Amino acid sequence: MAGDFDENSSAGITYLGAFATGPSQALLGYAVLGREKGDGLLMALIVRPELRRRGIGSQLLAAVGDCASYLGFDRLRLRVRRSNAPALALYKGMSFAQRSVSRKYYANGEDAIVMSARLPLKATL
Ligand SMILES: CC(C)(COP(=O)(O)OP(=O)(O)OC[C@H]1O[C@@H](n2cnc3c(N)ncnc32)[C@H](O)[C@@H]1OP(=O)(O)O)[C@@H](O)C(=O)NCCC(=O)NCCS
Repeated sequence: MAGDFDENSSAGITYLGAFATGPSQALLGYAVLGREKGDGLLMALIVRPELRRRGIGSQLLAAVGDCASYLGFDRLRLRVRRSNAPALALYKGMSFAQRSVSRKYYANGEDAIVMSARLPLKATL
């Protein structure tokens, strides 16, 4: 697991990658941290489909939380599709709570659940 961030980035975007420890150093998943309304904003979190349910997403999310704290944020927020049960379970297990719903936020008309958590993140499972 490796984190890479640049607090001086003019775009204010931080990219984190999870890499295989073997010689391939293949990318297993990644996350993107931005900012919104004074909070850290989880903009993306994705794990290679064949490697899901092995704890990589949790580790990436924990690393995002650590980066967000380092960058001075007190809170991390995100949006997730209402139908995205795996992601909702992951976020609830990492102390995120629903704050609001953005109706028809996505291009296909699906609602976004807006969630946030105080930093540091805590595993609640
Ligand atoms: C959401 C995602 C990042 C989770 O990554 P992951 O590496 O599989 O997650 P983890 O293995 O760390 O899972 C942690 C916990 O999340 C929950 N969870 C993860 N996948 C789940 C699933 N398919 N069904 C139910 N719960 C799930 C479980 O509580 C799990 O803990 P457990 O395995 O001990 O039961 C992954 O499914 C993914 O890349 N999805 C597509 C992209 C996406 O939807 N990203 C989120 C956008 S908001």
